[in-house]
Amino acid sequence: MATSEVVAGGSPADFNLFDPAVMECPFPFYEALRGEAPVYEVPGFGMYLISRFDDVTDALRSPEVFSSDFTRARPGSVVGLFSPPPTEEIQEILREGYPATKTLLTNDPPSHTRYRALVSKAFSPRRVAQMEPAIHALAHELIDGFVEGGRVELVRQFAVPLPLTIIADALGVPRSELDTFKRWSDTAVAPLGNLLDHNQQLEVARNYVEFQRYFAEKIEDRRREPADDMLTDLVDARVEGETLSTPELLDIVQQMLVAGNETTTKLIGSGMLLLLEHPDAMAAVRANRTLVPALVEEALRLEAPVQGLFRITATDTVLGGATIPEGSLCVLLYGSANRDDDAFSDAAALDLQRENARNHVSFGLGTHYCVGASLARAEARIAFDALLDRLVEIRRATTEPPTYERNFVFRGLSELWLEFERA
Ligand code: HEM
Repeated sequence: MATSEVVAGGSPADFNLFDPAVMECPFPFYEALRGEAPVYEVPGFGMYLISRFDDVTDALRSPEVFSSDFTRARPGSVVGLFSPPPTEEIQEILREGYPATKTLLTNDPPSHTRYRALVSKAFSPRRVAQMEPAIHALAHELIDGFVEGGRVELVRQFAVPLPLTIIADALGVPRSELDTFKRWSDTAVAPLGNLLDHNQQLEVARNYVEFQRYFAEKIEDRRREPADDMLTDLVDARVEGETLSTPELLDIVQQMLVAGNETTTKLIGSGMLLLLEHPDAMAAVRANRTLVPALVEEALRLEAPVQGLFRITATDTVLGGATIPEGSLCVLLYGSANRDDDAFSDAAALDLQRENARNHVSFGLGTHYCVGASLARAEARIAFDALLDRLVEIRRATTEPPTYERNFVFRGLSELWLEFERA
């Protein structure tokens, strides 16, 4: 693919998914895809991009055809790690950890169903309701840390630590180790939507093993001495009478770490930017706080923190009129489906009264629907309420365009400097 200029009205071949400009703003590319090639085979990659709402949701409803078991990929179609296959040096590092296993995101029914039932319990409405006072207290504590100064870098000082601390608390990680926890989260996310060089891959492998060893110890602690937390729920959980093995538990914990952090951070950042770019919406939400959940849904829809995820075709199949051969890597572009005018009227517009806003696919759909969706919604709702309670006349501290992380799967602001007055 050619390196692209991000312009509306181009054709899919004008764009490159790995082009930093496209990662920053993929929407003109999505529009070209939906218009011209809704099932698009990326030249040279053997990878298919699925961009229309109906096709994405059809695929999500057919896990037997669009499998999450990446071991089914045709040799040569590399998943997640678009980078070269692991060298002996990397494999040696990985051998010092625990073997990779398939539980949730990389698994299919019926095996997936059993793990899913367990993890759903750990995220039950009871657990999320129990967490709400702590989320509220933490949001205010973080605001206390910057409110006097009249200025904040919202991503680093608020949107990162809020979900990070909540999930770290649930998993029994002390606050003093949050920086290490964040490093594991960052390095786990990096290979999912990026091309990494050898040194970066080494870094990912070292962090993965460090993470595994740390949590293997925590798991042993909980086995010896149960606590009232999510990690104990997982350690106690039984599949057909058997408790989970350490590698199974590690896989689940890693998914919570990745799925539960980056995503909610990005949602808080993009929700705030939407308010700043739409003063009418800011005024409306301030005047009527019952609109906060609508803001959260529109931020999810317009700026999906997970822009797309992968599937492998388990058989030759036809989708959106195109044939996709067995074993192909497909990217279901949630961020594009959410902006499909055939599914949402005037889809690119922020509309706090939109009746079908919750139909977005930012949490996926069906089998793998985000297990942490109610926690993420609660965190974002509480975050916006706290920010609006404590800060007024919020404005961007710079006129520079906002910058985004360089990753085509996880999309979000790298920073957001704000100025404000105290309420
Ligand atoms: C705004 C925040 C969030 C977004 C946008 C998000 C997005 C998603 C998406 C799109 C999926 C579906 C994956 C697929 O289609 O294969 C998913 C699954 C998942 N999410 Fe979330 N997520 C968020 C927050 C959370 C939180 C807070 C947690 C837990 C701490 C979490 C844990 C998970 C897990 C464990 C899965 C795997 C479920 C399965 O495979 O059955 N997520 N998430």
